[in-house]
Amino acid sequence: MITMTAISKSFPGVRALDGVDFNVEKGEVHALLGENGSGKSTLTKIIAGVYHPDSGAMSYEGRAVRWSSPREARAAGIHVIYQELVVFGELSVAENIFINQQPVGRHGLIDKREMDWRAEDALRLRGCDIAVHRKVKHLSVAEQQMVEIAKALVGTVKVRILDEPTAVIAGREVELLFERIGVLRSRGVAIVYISHRLEEIFQIADRVTVLKDGRLVRTSPVNQVDRASLVRMMVGRELSDYFPPRRGPVPDAPVVLAAENIRVGKSVRGVSMALRAGEILGLAGMVGSGRTELAMAIFGGLPLDGGTITVAGRSYERVTPKQSIGNGIGFLTEDRKAEGLLMLLGIAANICAPALKAVSRGGILNRAREDDIAAEEMRKFRVAAPGPRTTVRSLSGGNQQKVLFGRWVRACKRVLLLDEPTRGVDVGAKAEIYGIIRRLADEGVAILMISSELPEIVGMSDRALVMRDGTVRGELAGAQITEEAIMALATHHN
Ligand SMILES: Nc1ncnc2c1ncn2[C@@H]1O[C@H](COP(=O)(O)OP(=O)(O)OP(=O)(O)O)[C@@H](O)[C@H]1O
Ligand SMILES: [Mg+2]
Repeated sequence: MITMTAISKSFPGVRALDGVDFNVEKGEVHALLGENGSGKSTLTKIIAGVYHPDSGAMSYEGRAVRWSSPREARAAGIHVIYQELVVFGELSVAENIFINQQPVGRHGLIDKREMDWRAEDALRLRGCDIAVHRKVKHLSVAEQQMVEIAKALVGTVKVRILDEPTAVIAGREVELLFERIGVLRSRGVAIVYISHRLEEIFQIADRVTVLKDGRLVRTSPVNQVDRASLVRMMVGRELSDYFPPRRGPVPDAPVVLAAENIRVGKSVRGVSMALRAGEILGLAGMVGSGRTELAMAIFGGLPLDGGTITVAGRSYERVTPKQSIGNGIGFLTEDRKAEGLLMLLGIAANICAPALKAVSRGGILNRAREDDIAAEEMRKFRVAAPGPRTTVRSLSGGNQQKVLFGRWVRACKRVLLLDEPTRGVDVGAKAEIYGIIRRLADEGVAILMISSELPEIVGMSDRALVMRDGTVRGELAGAQITEEAIMALATHHN
């Protein structure tokens, strides 16, 4: 379907792609792997007509092409789900799914009934019962991702590109997506699949291509590689100690944050928990079980409908993010684009945002100081970017995540609430982030870590809570924390 030869593409200060050969066949799932910033999204954007390559050639169905716009590529049958969600908050679910491809009825008008009906169908096929009339801005990130997936899977298309579609979904939703991809493959669709979850590659891909620093490392059938060889190709070295040694619960440590009978609308229905200094408390559960709302409410990002939060010797029935930051509590959001980063500002401004006093004097920002701090965090987290003033918008997804991480680790020394901390982060950087989380805990920071990746909960948590339908269904400690035990508590089948 697509053959790319010697493709190169540069951005100011960055060689994103350097002489890459890549091809996708009809009816195959071709996985595209590589570290953060290795050029995966850039390659797919060239396929989709978003960028022109600086050099190199591309052919589509055997004919040389040079797209004049994404619209032209789409009309030719190429569809992309982008890594960063592209949703229209003011439009309905159905309107989002059929954006640019609305069914047209008599008199050339959009056939709304047909659209709603087909949207409902597309979602239900995916086991998802979001009402199609709801405005997308009222949906959770996971629900928005389901809308994105439904959007990419309706209509007739020859090439589908999925850039980290599973970064914010889990469990049953992933299974449904994979089933659907299987159907598309059997119909001869060519699929490019990007993910940092290596186990997925072995589940669905036929071939795999690894990029490193914008160069092609290798293309190979999936049955000729294993996890270790993929990691070696991506990272350039072995990664043996993926998770730092687990310490087990810390029963005597002081409780630094206690939440009692927390209620938030319909999503959190009376949750109590205590977080001790130096522990990593995993918060597991299905998407929609109320984990994010709980953490948000503790931080002050959502109003409490009941309950109290006790921190630093004071009890609160109402708390604002500003108070929380003042109390040394940081919150790493799962939705970095909408709620975390200041996309148009530089890395330095993003890292220093919660603690401007530390970088200003008499109300005047000291830019040089900001840059120094940012440079230090960039080194610590290995953020790949030209410099501290690079705008965050131009960074790859994983590097954006590292910037956000650097911000909170720096600003908050008592409690860190982490919502999907390694979302979109490559394997090498994940290992680094796990090391950093454990080090922070060793220094006495209390950590609450929400994750949909079970191995991450199992590998990192000293203790784990499992939520379902807005309540805590069980607590596991030490060796009790297994994927099976978590699943049993998280689903109804127990
Ligand atoms: N529009 C842009 N302007 C400037 N630099 C860019 C732009 N888009 C990408 N880059 C740079 O090009 C490089 C490759 O980025 P790309 O987004 O393709 O990486 P990726 O492999 O998709 O990474 P990730 O796994 O983090 O999503 C990065 O260094 C990135 O900062
Ligand atoms: Mg990317």
